[in-house]
Amino acid sequence: MPKPSARSAAAPASPIRRLYPLSVEAKKRGKKVYHLNIGQPDIPTPRAFMRGVREAKIEVLDYAPSPGIPEALEALARYYGECDLQVAKEEILITIGGSEGITFALTIACDPGDQVLIPQPFYPNYLGYARLTNVEIVPITTCREDGFHLPPRQEIETLIGPRTKAILFSHPGNPTGVVYTRAEMEMLVDIALKNDLFIISDEVYREFVYEGGHTSLLTFREVRDRAILVDSISKRLSACGARIGALISHNKDVMAAAAKCATIRLSAPTFEQLGLVAFMADPSHRAVIEEMIGEYRARRDLFCQELCGIPGITFRVPEGAFYVMMGLPVEDSEAFIRWMLTDYPGPETVMLAPGAGFYVTPGLGKDEARAAYVLKADDLRRACAVLADGLSLFSRTVTGEIVAGRG
Ligand SMILES: Cc1ncc(COP(=O)(O)O)c(C=O)c1O
Repeated sequence: MPKPSARSAAAPASPIRRLYPLSVEAKKRGKKVYHLNIGQPDIPTPRAFMRGVREAKIEVLDYAPSPGIPEALEALARYYGECDLQVAKEEILITIGGSEGITFALTIACDPGDQVLIPQPFYPNYLGYARLTNVEIVPITTCREDGFHLPPRQEIETLIGPRTKAILFSHPGNPTGVVYTRAEMEMLVDIALKNDLFIISDEVYREFVYEGGHTSLLTFREVRDRAILVDSISKRLSACGARIGALISHNKDVMAAAAKCATIRLSAPTFEQLGLVAFMADPSHRAVIEEMIGEYRARRDLFCQELCGIPGITFRVPEGAFYVMMGLPVEDSEAFIRWMLTDYPGPETVMLAPGAGFYVTPGLGKDEARAAYVLKADDLRRACAVLADGLSLFSRTVTGEIVAGRG
């Protein structure tokens, strides 16, 4: 019988979804599970977007143009214009989510066997995209104590070798919530320039910034020819199922290569591109985004305040996105997360994402977990109470206190 390739076997299953079956089992047993493990926003998708989808006048659902429907490209160009980024519609390609944008960016920047530098911890699917494109990830290790900001330039440059072709980072960061300062962005830009690298900024959380500002990669004119921006409407329009993202570059060769990649997969979803057009045509679209960001800021503040009250949890308040990467007072966070789903008593439990899955270096992140604060305030409060109780009970269970003391 033919076997699936080694390459497909090497593509990792998402660590965020790996424990999912345990949560299904827990729910079958009647438990309420607070899902802090996955970045699936719960806020309704904007009405104007949904109206655009519902009212689309389509008789034949044919292939959309490979680079994107012209009106949707114009809508995106207008969006970047509103963010003070001058992007022509020829410099945008609509992709099937940010996911496809990153895969295209890696395909364009690297040949098989080439290397890409990525700050870790990172969005775990980067490893999947890298494995599928046969690109090796060289991690730039960042740590919780520094709020996952970048190490000094020298430390990054020692990682660059003859096969290094690109730097890729998520900004704001998943799972870290880090928002790089202007100085950090300048450093990355300069490293890319001096070492002749592509620089790929994944800005799918570009609106989710709560402290200071966000310096987009596209503001740096000196890297116009080597910068690739990846964007998506999944998070800012609470539209993960739309599967609409974008790849943006001022480099004509990059855009020509991206256009070729796009023709191979024919087209991105039609209805959702029309939803985007309708959303951008709505005069209140900016207010809708801002209201959503206000809601996430309030959730971040509340969640961090609640976490501060849990003994042993360590974290720095994230500046952006909607995640907290925290240290737990346990040796093995995955064992704790599993236990919460299988053994924690009572009618409710909490699900987190184990930290190790966000690192490529074995051993890192074992005592860490990522929480996504994508629940309403009351649920976040309740989830934190359950988490605090779970941690206290788990530590007594593993030290034998409960077995020996309470039988
Ligand atoms: C950092 C980052 N990049 C890309 C993606 C992929 O998003 P999309 O739904 O646009 O494919 C995600 C999704 O969670 C993400 O967190």
